[in-house]
Amino acid sequence: MKRKKVTVVGSGNVGATAAQRIVDKDLADVVLIDIIEGVPQGKALDLLQSGPVEGYDFSITGANDYQDTADSDAVIITAGLPRKPGMSRDDLLMKNYEIVKSVTEQIVQYSPNSILIVVSNPLDAMVQTALKVSGFPKNRVIGMAGVLDSARFCTFIAMELNVSVENIHAFVLGGHGDTMVPLPRYSTVSGIPITELLPKEKIDALVKRTANGGAEIVSLLKTGSAYYAPSAASVEMLEAIFKDKKKILPCAAYLEGEYGIHGLYVGVPVKLGKNGIEDIIQIKLTPEEDAALKKSAAAVKELVDIIRV
Ligand code: NAI
Ligand code: 2OP
Repeated sequence: MKRKKVTVVGSGNVGATAAQRIVDKDLADVVLIDIIEGVPQGKALDLLQSGPVEGYDFSITGANDYQDTADSDAVIITAGLPRKPGMSRDDLLMKNYEIVKSVTEQIVQYSPNSILIVVSNPLDAMVQTALKVSGFPKNRVIGMAGVLDSARFCTFIAMELNVSVENIHAFVLGGHGDTMVPLPRYSTVSGIPITELLPKEKIDALVKRTANGGAEIVSLLKTGSAYYAPSAASVEMLEAIFKDKKKILPCAAYLEGEYGIHGLYVGVPVKLGKNGIEDIIQIKLTPEEDAALKKSAAAVKELVDIIRV
């Protein structure tokens, strides 16, 4: 069987940790890319030297140009600037737009058949940039946010109820920003909706903490943003694709009428398999949930209109 190959663009916190998770999970050879000379090469070598201890046997290389990325099956784009305290994800818009545009142009040249998983923020606008710049079909350009936001919601529910996180499924829809839409009705503990287990005020507090989940970590770290859970979430998506799992996960997907939203990336449940997004799952929303999703989509649209993608 041909070995899979993944390029991870951006060898910073999320990118390097994603590379580590990819080889730890025996998923693929990895090429790390960054604009800083030496960093992708050094991190790749360091990761390679963990192989004899950890028991993986993959090629892990680093580079500052894209020749070595040729024929990647998937590309995880984490290049960009992270948030600093007091910065919103949207403050990153213009700088990261230029970065994601140039990265995508180079990826397309060397890996025209790859699946792109975009992580750079502001997420929904950046994945829309990658779609438009790449000219790839929409099933092959996917944004990572909902898996992370749902993992945060799961964590907070498990902490509140003092139950195993393995029992919990949580759903967060919408854009990856302050307007994201955690859905308590569809968030369950062993199949029991949390609305049956927790009073409304508690759920509201957990929802608020989830929407603020990234900022909470930024304010603690002070010099960067979260990366353990973001890299785990990105690699869960990659694994679902490479193993053709047909896993239903909340991802940023390009909507063309689904949920009444047109021509915009927004987080919704999708089926991930070997072709990338193989289906968009449409669930029935209450009028309040629908209004919250539309509000979140409007916030994404504002950014997309600024960069005109
Ligand atoms: P970081 O600063 O640790 O790493 C970013 C790397 O990108 C740096 O090494 C930088 O040199 C590199 N870079 C900048 N321009 C580049 C270019 N043109 N080509 C290649 N590499 C380039 O940042 P971190 O923590 O890894 O975050 C990366 C991005 O992911 C940020 O935009 C952050 O906001 C976003 N993010 C998104 C999440 C999500 O849920 N979608 C979660 C966590 C982070
Ligand atoms: C996060 O949610 C900063 O978007 C990043 O942690």
